[in-house]
Amino acid sequence: MGSGESGLRVAQIGCGHWGAHVLRDLRDCGCLVEVVARSEPSRANAAAGGAERIVGTIGELSDRIEAAVVVTPARTHVGVIEQLLERRGDLPIYCEKPLCVDPLRAERAAREWSRVFVMHKWRYHPGIVELAAIARLEELGPVQSLRLHREQWGAPRRDIDLVWTHIPHDLTIVLEVLGHVPAVHAARIDRVRGEPNGATVLLGSTPWAAITTSARSATPRREFQLFARDGVALLADSFAREVRILREPPDRVASPTFEPRPIASTMPLLAQLKAFLAFVRGTGPAPKGSLAEEAVIIRTIATLYERSEH
Ligand SMILES: NC(=O)c1ccc[n+]([C@@H]2O[C@H](COP(=O)([O-])OP(=O)(O)OC[C@H]3O[C@@H](n4cnc5c(N)ncnc54)[C@H](OP(=O)(O)O)[C@@H]3O)[C@@H](O)[C@H]2O)c1
Repeated sequence: MGSGESGLRVAQIGCGHWGAHVLRDLRDCGCLVEVVARSEPSRANAAAGGAERIVGTIGELSDRIEAAVVVTPARTHVGVIEQLLERRGDLPIYCEKPLCVDPLRAERAAREWSRVFVMHKWRYHPGIVELAAIARLEELGPVQSLRLHREQWGAPRRDIDLVWTHIPHDLTIVLEVLGHVPAVHAARIDRVRGEPNGATVLLGSTPWAAITTSARSATPRREFQLFARDGVALLADSFAREVRILREPPDRVASPTFEPRPIASTMPLLAQLKAFLAFVRGTGPAPKGSLAEEAVIIRTIATLYERSEH
């Protein structure tokens, strides 16, 4: 048992590819997990992951559940949360990202649901948390910009396009590091046979943020760079174990000398679930990922699509 969060009875809705990881981490935290799984593959994942109960519908969950985690496809999130809240209006719920793809619906959710939060694992990534601390403390002087690259070959999801899949990650990194999501300055969406397959986005002015994401990049890349007056801080990969600090001004072309700053190996998904469970038990603050923040993220993504046409 990992965290001492033992004994909480948690409902998990959905146990597909990602849900199997969520179940593993809930079990690692000592939770008793009632899983809603309908198809045979989902039921097999739930059984292999040590579910306490496996049921076919939300209506069959026991009355003893103290919290819920939603790991279904994005377009089903709102309907699933509505069903859970019909059973118990104050149930704490942690829902995978994005909440939905409709800014008006997200804004209404932010007004109406006070104990629903959205899972954005990058806000718990030790490297992103370190970049945020460097920015907040102005360790390298005032922040000038944040430049984020999330590129690969192929799109992981079918229910929502790559922009709705990837850009929430990057906007939450911007939020975590800069403390807010600046307004959209410019955006271009890369389309393949009409389908969004990537985006290049510029936000704000001082500081500004640039995001590039693509499902047709021959060079897989996850790279997050913070530029400040006195230097650069770099997280070179999702699995990097250090943030690199570069202080010397680049007065000649050469490999830069950097100062490695080790970061914890904590897995972000586990860290965010621990934060949620502490909130449910009343021993910690609300987890990151408020619906007010989610409404801003979803509105920003909708704006990218509008700006991309002009
Ligand atoms: N943060 C991250 O890095 C990250 C990574 C991957 C995925 N995710 C998020 O996690 C969520 C799930 O992704 P996934 O890859 O696990 O998808 P998936 O493999 O397609 O699994 C979806 C699961 O949801 C269930 N489901 C679908 N519609 C449902 C409904 N209306 N009611 C109840 N259960 C329903 C499916 O059950 P049946 O098989 O029984 O139909 C299946 O168990 C998505 O929101 C995705 O954005 C986040």
